[in-house]
Amino acid sequence: MSREAFEERLAAINADELHHVVVMEASSSPPHADNVATRSARHASAIGSLVVENKFIHECGRVGHVDSLAVSAELCGSEETSYRLLEHLIALARQHGCYKVLVDCLEADVAFYARNGFERKGAQMAMSLAHGGADVHVPSKLSWSSVQLRSSPFRARALRAADRVGYLGLLEQLTTVGDVPAATFEGRWRLMQHRGLEHVVVVVAMAEACGLEHGQIVACGTLMLEPTVAHDGRPVAHIEDVVVDAACRGHGLGKLLLEQLVEMAISAGCAKVILNCAEENVGFYERCGFEHKRVSMVRYLPAPSRPRFAEKARSGEIRSHGALLGWVAVPVGLALIATAVAARILTRRAQ
Ligand SMILES: CC(C)(COP(=O)(O)OP(=O)(O)OC[C@H]1O[C@@H](n2cnc3c(N)ncnc32)[C@H](O)[C@@H]1OP(=O)(O)O)[C@@H](O)C(=O)NCCC(=O)NCCS
Repeated sequence: MSREAFEERLAAINADELHHVVVMEASSSPPHADNVATRSARHASAIGSLVVENKFIHECGRVGHVDSLAVSAELCGSEETSYRLLEHLIALARQHGCYKVLVDCLEADVAFYARNGFERKGAQMAMSLAHGGADVHVPSKLSWSSVQLRSSPFRARALRAADRVGYLGLLEQLTTVGDVPAATFEGRWRLMQHRGLEHVVVVVAMAEACGLEHGQIVACGTLMLEPTVAHDGRPVAHIEDVVVDAACRGHGLGKLLLEQLVEMAISAGCAKVILNCAEENVGFYERCGFEHKRVSMVRYLPAPSRPRFAEKARSGEIRSHGALLGWVAVPVGLALIATAVAARILTRRAQ
C-alpha cells in the first residue's frame, strides 16, 4: 500500500468519530525518538480497531465491531496486553452508546474472550472478493439508486426517510425494534446518509401480485462499509439485519438480496464481506456463497453514557494508567506496524 493511499484511508478513519484504530505503545520509548511515526513503528505493542454501526433496531441502537486485534511477537503470551487493548476498545464502544460489542475469533481464542465477558453468539460467515478492477475508494463515495433483482418482480433500492412504517415493521420480524418515533427515525436516517458507511437496502414489490401491494417492502438488509488500512486499503463490508417477509420466504428472495449486497461490496472495491448469524441460518448463507469462518462472540454493555471519553481518545489525550504501556489513537506508524512488525493475531498466542 502506498504512503498516499495509507494516508487517505487514515484520513477517512480519522474523519469518522465512530471509528477508532488504536495502537498500544511501550512507554519505555527512547527520549530521542522525535516523532510519533518513528516511535510507534519501533515500539508498538498491540493494535486493534473499533467501528461503531448505527442501527434502527433496539430503538436506533448502536453496535461496536472489534477487529484486527494483534499483539507484537515479543508480547505474545502476555494476556495483560490483549486484555488492556480490548478493555480500551470496549470503553470506547460504551462511550458511543453501544448496547453490545461483537468480535469474531478462532475457536482457540474463545476462552480468552469468555474470560473478558464475551459469550458465543453464533457463526461468522465470510466471502473473499477478488480485486475486480473496481476503484478502491473511500466508502462514503459509494453511490447507487435502485435496481431490479434479476428478472424478478422485485426492485432493490436505498431506504428512504418515508419508509419508517414498512421498514420497521419488517425489522420486527427479526428482533425488538422498540419505540422509534418519526423524528428519531429520520434523525438516524440522516446520520447514516451523512456518514456514508451504512447502506440500508430495501426490496419492494414492483406490482400487485401474490397478495403484495405495489411498493410494499418485502425484504431488507444493510451493508456497512468499514474503511481499513489492511487488505491493501480495500474496505471490509459487513452485512447486517437481513430479513425477508415471512409471507415471501422460501422463494429465492433472500438469495437475490444477498447477491445485491455483495454486488455493492464489489463495486466499493471491498476485500471481503463478513456477517454474523445464528447457527440455524448458516445453511442459507452457504447457499449464498459464504463460508463459515469463525466464531462470533458478543459482550452486552450496560446502559450508555455520554460520548466524552471517545473524543479525548481520538485526540490522543488518553493514556494508560499502568506503568508498562501507553495509548496512541490512530498513529501514523500503523501501516508499518501492521506489515513490518512481527505482530500476530491474538489467536496464535496460546499455541
Ligand atoms: C434467512 C432468510 C433471510 C432467508 O430468506 P429466504 O428468502 O427464505 O431464502 P431463499 O429462499 O432465498 O433461500 C436460498 C437458499 O437457502 C436455503 N435456505 C433458506 N433458509 C435456510 C436456512 N435457515 N437453513 C438452510 N438453508 C436455508 C433455501 O432452501 C434456498 O436453497 P436453494 O438455493 O437450494 O433453493 C429468511 O428466512 C428470514 O428473513 N428469516 C428471519 C430473519 C432472519 O433470521 N434473518 C437472518 C439474520 S442473520
